[in-house]
Amino acid sequence: MGQIILVEDNEAFHELLTLNISTYIGAQVIARKDAAEVTALLSILPDIDAIICKSKIGAEPSAQIILDYLRESLQEVVLIVVGEAPPHQEGELVNVKDPQDWESIVKVCAKILGVTPESVEKKPRPEYVPINLANFYLIDRTPCEIYIRIKKSADDFQFVKRFHGGDTFNKQVIKRYEDQGLKHFHVHRDFLKNFTNFVSDHLVLKLDQTDIDSPDMITNLADTFDYASKEILKFGFTSATLQLTETVIGKMVQIVEKSPEMSGLLHRIINSKSSYLYQHSHMTSVIASQCLKELGIGKKDAYNKLAYAAFFQNISLVEHEDYAKISSYEELEAASLSEADWDMVFNHALEASLLITKNPDAPLGVDEIIKSHHGAPNGKGYTKTNLDSLPGLTRIFVLAADFAKYFLAHRERSSEGKELTPVIKILYEKYQTDEATRILKVIEKTLKKKA
Ligand SMILES: [Fe+2]
Repeated sequence: MGQIILVEDNEAFHELLTLNISTYIGAQVIARKDAAEVTALLSILPDIDAIICKSKIGAEPSAQIILDYLRESLQEVVLIVVGEAPPHQEGELVNVKDPQDWESIVKVCAKILGVTPESVEKKPRPEYVPINLANFYLIDRTPCEIYIRIKKSADDFQFVKRFHGGDTFNKQVIKRYEDQGLKHFHVHRDFLKNFTNFVSDHLVLKLDQTDIDSPDMITNLADTFDYASKEILKFGFTSATLQLTETVIGKMVQIVEKSPEMSGLLHRIINSKSSYLYQHSHMTSVIASQCLKELGIGKKDAYNKLAYAAFFQNISLVEHEDYAKISSYEELEAASLSEADWDMVFNHALEASLLITKNPDAPLGVDEIIKSHHGAPNGKGYTKTNLDSLPGLTRIFVLAADFAKYFLAHRERSSEGKELTPVIKILYEKYQTDEATRILKVIEKTLKKKA
């Protein structure tokens, strides 16, 4: 879905534009108050398609400030200035002079997103759909034609074919496009499903063909985890994302069942070239499951449940990995986030628990573990004193997830990254209830245990 930022202080006109853009173009309209809010959003959401901005908001020369920002950051976002445009070069912006002319603005947006005038009249959908370039590193062949979008003028784009269906390519080829600044390839909308199924099948096959003890296992698992999380956030649970989830979780459970010794496994994960979210999730699943083993209550069903909880706990923070490092209210306050981001972090456990209920394969009760994974039973915020009131499995999960967080933070701080003892000490300090201490002792014992 296309995303368009709208800066407009006339409420009625704002509403009119939002309604028409979302209805006729199917794009999401993100309201922002002034230039500062726009540039802040652009720095974290670089995939915005267009910005509609009134020339001035109050005394602020908003359009000028945003234009300067786009020039400096070299971002290819179309700027539509409503009213008097600031001095500009040809092709730098689209100017709609009449501040009431919403129809022209909607038409420009339709053009940018590839929605044709005929389809605006009927039920519009963009002809070509963007696919993040990063996904092309995961495959070496395409099942369908792949295009790149070329800018012809400020609001006119052409789609040029780059690969035919069945073409093979290697990572260097994709890297060359990336080096030239390309962020997305495009596929025709009729082939989107075909393409996403192909990537998913390819990843699943690769994981199935990798030996569980092989050094490639962690890397392949990390690739699939990252891809699956992003796809789930974008498309929800489809047959492709369900298959990916099941494969990743199946492998996590298999690894726990086979692995005789935890600290070696944690170091394999921590030393792999992979994302923070993957490392944190996989480590949480390993620590929590080993804890159950140590307690003599380890069963495949429980491992499976813990792996699901580990996979999904921070899924709503996929685009903001650093936010998943926050595990206390004090850290949240110290992070100085914008109001919207603060809300996103504060509610992320609740959001993830709502998402998992839409997965028909998820084990019963996993949403409750996800909701309380920072100790708060309502999924909002953090608590370290409420642990004893949570069910046993959840309690173990909370401590395992927080242990994984400090373990990873310790790696960042220490050049050696191998000394484990201080991490467990931090946890003993943080969680001082009897139940927490009992579980932390189990984790400590498991860490020291050799095969
Ligand atoms: Fe979290």
